[in-house]
Amino acid sequence: RSAAPTDLVVFGGTGDLAMRKLLPALLLCEKDGRLAPTTRIVAVSRDGIGDADYRGKAEAAVADNPSVLRAGAVPAPVLRRFLERLHHVPLDLDEPGDGWDRLRALLDAAPGGDAGRGRVYYLAMPPMLFGRICADLEANGLAGGESRVVLEKPLGRDLESAREINDAVGAVFSERRTFRIDHYLGKETVQNLLALRFANMFLEPVWNSRWIDHVQITAAETVGVGTRHGYYDRSGAMRDMVQNHLLQLLCLIAMEPPSSFDREAVRDEKVKVLQSLAPLAGEEALRHTARGQYSAGSQGGREVPGYTGEPGADGASSTETFVALEAAVANWRWAGVPFYLRTGKRMARRYSEIVVQFRGVPHPIFPGQGAAPSPNRLVIRLQPEETIRLHMLAKEPGAGELRLRPAPLELSLSDSFAVRSPDAYERLLMDVMNGDPTLFMRRDEVEAAWRWVDPVIGAWQGTDPEPYAPGGTGPQGAHDLLARSGRAWHEGEMTR
Ligand code: BG6
Repeated sequence: RSAAPTDLVVFGGTGDLAMRKLLPALLLCEKDGRLAPTTRIVAVSRDGIGDADYRGKAEAAVADNPSVLRAGAVPAPVLRRFLERLHHVPLDLDEPGDGWDRLRALLDAAPGGDAGRGRVYYLAMPPMLFGRICADLEANGLAGGESRVVLEKPLGRDLESAREINDAVGAVFSERRTFRIDHYLGKETVQNLLALRFANMFLEPVWNSRWIDHVQITAAETVGVGTRHGYYDRSGAMRDMVQNHLLQLLCLIAMEPPSSFDREAVRDEKVKVLQSLAPLAGEEALRHTARGQYSAGSQGGREVPGYTGEPGADGASSTETFVALEAAVANWRWAGVPFYLRTGKRMARRYSEIVVQFRGVPHPIFPGQGAAPSPNRLVIRLQPEETIRLHMLAKEPGAGELRLRPAPLELSLSDSFAVRSPDAYERLLMDVMNGDPTLFMRRDEVEAAWRWVDPVIGAWQGTDPEPYAPGGTGPQGAHDLLARSGRAWHEGEMTR
């Protein structure tokens, strides 16, 4: 099904996000025939370039994009059709000149005949500019009708700034027209988690503290901060990954079954989880968290700089590039079940996964059975592979002594469904064009997440992150966090 005909206006249209994520995702939508014939993509940036130059830049950016390459060759007519949709309007927010008029003229000249043509403003810009762009859109008569706005994360840097941004955006775009993107929610396996939990009967009865010992959520990356030091140093792993992606995953694991798969019903249940998180502040926060910063060293046989040696670094910084923490969802279902969250850059391998660790059997009867941790684990791998594995013990074949061996039940999404899994941004861009906000964060969710995160960051003030070697499993503090209760991180075996 193709999305509604839309003018998608990307502020920050020549930036990193547009070039690395948005254009490749849109090209893949094109390839699958999911863009309406008259949909246009209008990039806005300070660069004084015309459509032809922008199309050239875009062509170069998609040519070696990993998602595009993975999806196979793009037929020349598809690429041509896609590039013809692209336009560029030079517009400097500080000195707009006739930039706004040019944007309006282009949008007014939309191809005719589309009843209900949509308009989407995608703000791929620093969040402190969101309010201002929305006000400018309104002042220039561009924010009316059913136009929508998409806000990239991070939304602010604490509760107060998030509220200010939400107020400023909300003064122009109603909540219904505001789409706060968290690309983790667009990942296939993340949506599959909802299907797994709420389209099947067998999990729900065991999905609680009676059967589950603890939950681990890991998002590990091999990359460092690279050229993003300017942004990252003011942010750190807690604001960059935990406040949004990891807490969203926690919500999907911990939420109650919604009464329908309706935009508000799903988000109502998620926000209740965030509101149930036991507050962590002061000493308590320090005891339940570990923060690290990668040092220089060798990773995969290559010498890599430490965080403070990255381009743009000023040599001393207490920004964390790794966080591990123990959260508690204080409600009947989850009382006493720790949720361990962990994310870091320059780790041994890139993978994101959720591990639901079940309790052990109450009374072991087989030799060797009953050792902790219990073999029963549900492992939901978001990337690089998309698999759901249920680990259990089975009898090893043979007529001799009965021996148990771990054996997984595995659902590999790519093998089971012989179709390509779309990239997260493909899914989310289609949803925005179709006006479906179910997989986007509502204002109260973002603010509830900051309300929980702020005191943790506050507790870290004046402390330094623990250095960790690149290419490993993070700082010792992260291991100690689990070891205190006799647990350990599941180091994510590769499934293939
Ligand atoms: C982004 C963060 O939101 O997510 C980046 O700003 C991080 O720092 C990225 O690298 C990870 O996304 P993914 O999809 O590669 O896991």
